[in-house]
Amino acid sequence: MNTVQGAGVVVTGAGGGIGAALARRFAAEGARVVVNDIDPARTKAVADEIGATAVPGDASAVVDEAREALGGTVDVYCANAGLASPGDAFAGEEVWAAAWDVNVMAHVRAARALLPDWLERGSGRFVSTVSAAGLLTMVGAAPYSVSKHGAYAFAEWLSLTYRHRGLKVHAICPQGVRTDMLTAAGSAGELVLAPTAIEPEDVADALIEGIEADRFLILPHPEVADYYRARASEPERWLNNMSHIQQKWEGAGR
Ligand SMILES: NC(=O)c1ccc[n+]([C@@H]2O[C@H](COP(=O)([O-])OP(=O)(O)OC[C@H]3O[C@@H](n4cnc5c(N)ncnc54)[C@H](O)[C@@H]3O)[C@@H](O)[C@H]2O)c1
Repeated sequence: MNTVQGAGVVVTGAGGGIGAALARRFAAEGARVVVNDIDPARTKAVADEIGATAVPGDASAVVDEAREALGGTVDVYCANAGLASPGDAFAGEEVWAAAWDVNVMAHVRAARALLPDWLERGSGRFVSTVSAAGLLTMVGAAPYSVSKHGAYAFAEWLSLTYRHRGLKVHAICPQGVRTDMLTAAGSAGELVLAPTAIEPEDVADALIEGIEADRFLILPHPEVADYYRARASEPERWLNNMSHIQQKWEGAGR
């Protein structure tokens, strides 16, 4: 029997893209799934397709209703909903606030709602769809990069704080994935992400494999491990390389 068979699973932002692929894969593995998205029609469409329960609404406040739909227990919570949040330091206050709210605080609020039950039971699994931008940094997307660093830090903090009490945490850090968000990333996405972009189903494969292996860091693009190592061990060289990418992007007219 696989780890998620029969488990109660919640996936936020699952009306399309990576979240829909995760929800489909969990359902195919025999999990009982709750599909959440801020868009009610897309939530219902995916839920109906896979025989899941639809709980539309803001990902910040989905746990109680999802828990009830799953008969009292959430076994796996996928904090997947995210905003692309492009822009530089001059992006509006509202862009920075929305990035922080959806990409970080929705995870914190979910954890607050989940932890008491998980710690009492001594088990629970929190999956954070971060991004390689949370380990590295995405050119042209300051609010996204900064908030995704926050999402990664929170996942790491959850893992080290509660792993001896039975909590499993996974941080998924892909580069480009062919979804609406990649399209919305515009010319920077075209330049940096599109050439090595993978399908949402590849992310779902990587997550299931990571769950079976109980691995925290899930890298659907394995080369991200080399970039992350380079960033830590040779920051000047890494920044010079990233600056070349920035300049290439500027040269291409942004
Ligand atoms: N596509 C990529 O290249 C890529 C790469 C790395 C990480 N990611 C991350 O993967 C996750 C999913 O992104 P995607 O590429 O599938 O994008 P997407 O735009 O296709 O899907 C995101 C979904 O989240 C929903 N959503 C937005 N705000 C919400 C909220 N407050 N509450 C509930 N739902 C909300 C949207 O309606 C949408 O259906 C995001 O966290 C994103 O940052 C994407």
